[in-house]
Formats: sequence, C-alpha cells, structure tokens
Amino acid sequence: MIENVPVIDIAELESPAALDAIDRACREWGFFQVTGHGIDPLLLASIFAVSREFFARPAAEKRRIHRDADNPWGFFDRELTKNRQDWKEIYDFGPSDGDKLKPRWPAGTLRLRFEPVIRAYYASCKALSLRLLSAIAVNLGVSPDELTWRFEGAHTSFLRLNYYPKHPLAPADDDRPFGVGEHTDSGALTLLLQDWQPGLEVCRDGEWHLVEPRADALVVNIGDMVQVWSNDRYRAAVHRVVTHPLRDRYSVPFFLNPTWDTTYEPLPTTLGAGEPARYRRIHWREFRTLRAAGDYADLGEEVQISHYRQ
Ligand code: OGA
Ligand code: NI
Repeated sequence: MIENVPVIDIAELESPAALDAIDRACREWGFFQVTGHGIDPLLLASIFAVSREFFARPAAEKRRIHRDADNPWGFFDRELTKNRQDWKEIYDFGPSDGDKLKPRWPAGTLRLRFEPVIRAYYASCKALSLRLLSAIAVNLGVSPDELTWRFEGAHTSFLRLNYYPKHPLAPADDDRPFGVGEHTDSGALTLLLQDWQPGLEVCRDGEWHLVEPRADALVVNIGDMVQVWSNDRYRAAVHRVVTHPLRDRYSVPFFLNPTWDTTYEPLPTTLGAGEPARYRRIHWREFRTLRAAGDYADLGEEVQISHYRQ
C-alpha cells in the first residue's frame, strides 16, 4: 500500500480525534496537511498573486531590496543548503525589532498590494501555528500554553516567499539542482502553502514521498525544537524540493521561531525510568546563528540538531 502524508481536518482542533491524528502524524511522519484551518481562501490566492508579481520583476530591481548579514529580511537568490546552492529565489519578511531588523519592501505601486497581503497572511500564520503548537503541547502531556509563550513579543518567526524556477536538466540527471536540498527546519514548526505544482518531498524510512498539493490544505511540518521537546518521540522530518524541467513552482512557508533568549530541552513529561534526556539544553540564539552562517557561505559542516545529542 502506498501511504501518503496524512490530511487532518482541524476545524475542531481540541477534539480527541484531531489530537490523536496529529500525535500519530508527528510520530510517523513529522509532516501532515491540515484542512478546516480557517484561513480565508482569498488571502491564500492573494499571497500567490503578489508573490508571482514580485518574482517577475527584473533581477536588478529585486536586488535593490537584497537581504544582508545585519538585516536578513528581503530578497535573496544565493542560499546554500548544506553547502550546495539551491535553485530558487526567496523573499523573507519578519517584523521590525526596533533595531537592525526591518522589513524591506518592493518599490512603487507593487508595495501597495504586497505589504498588506504579506502582513495579513503573516498574522494568520502566526495565530494558526500557535494553535497547532498548543495541540502538540497537550499531546506531549503539558498544558496548552506551556510552549507558546516563547513565541510572544520579540519572537523570530518569519514568512518566506519561495520561487523555484524551472530547470532545464532532465529529472534523472545527477547534476540537476534541488530547489532546496534535504534538510530539517530548525524552529518549532513550519506552516507551508504550496501551489498546484508538485515538488516537495518528505523522507520516511529512507524513502521519498511527495507531499501532494491540495488547494484546501496547508502543510505542517515539525522542526528541530519540537523534536527536542518531545525527546525524539516526534521527528523533524527530512524534506527537499525537486525542480521541474518545464514548470515554475511557488510556495510560502511560515517558520514559527521563538525569542532569541529561548532555551529548550526535552520536556520533563517525556522522561522516565529508562528514558533519559537525549539532548542537552540548547540556546536558540546560538543554534540559529551557527545555522544561519551556513546559509551564506561554505563554512564546512553545517550545524545540525544532532550535535546537541547526549
Ligand atoms: C523550506 C522548505 C519547502 C517548499 O523553505 O524550508 O522546505 O515546498 N520549503 O518550498
Ligand atoms: Ni524546509
């Protein structure tokens, strides 16, 4: 039997049926799709519309709002995953921190359409991802707000527009680049909107499975933080994006990340006789800074959550 990434209706997220389905999906896949999420389909259509419009602008114009080492928000087209160049362009939006971090906006009239849609969708993703994290907290035996408070105030969550241009090499060619090479997401969880063009694959038991595009669903995948909190009950699944020879692909992930000073370690509820903590305490600032350095430059082996195993 060919198994697919589970699709879960979360219209009643606190119901035992939904909680059980999420627990199972986190254990078996680290990935699931959610329907009944309550985000307005018009907003989903608008985010793709502004994203397509933005990436269609000339390269020189996009580079005028290029991100840099001081302020990572903006356009970028040279990202590396594990020291290999990804075949994609991105635009990252995160809130201003009143200091160095500041959103960068496209020029001219595009901004008038772009900014309100980005801000509205960011707010919807933030709210929905915190509801999902509360459900995960309950499944891990702690109260619904035990994990979410680290994502209030100066949290480091961000929204990314991904554009994966078609790539002329045949799918079987070894030199064909990935849109994103295999990786796990380092934060708590990721909420991803993908268009109808397939490309996202998740690895389970050594095999790659396509995450089938569905117009009515958002994709959820758990990140390294939830893996640590769960003491390996849940796994942050390895995933990648394959490019298509003829078709472009667009996706919009929201990465739920905590405040810089957050530390995390396996929750006490996951420990017991014969079940020691499998990770030492991790500082988000330290982990994130090491990982981000690898996005910019080939600095040798990229830091992975496994470096914190004990
Ligand atoms: C990512 C990612 C998947 C996609 O940006 O971390 O895994 O479908 N994206 O774009
Ligand atoms: Ni990812």
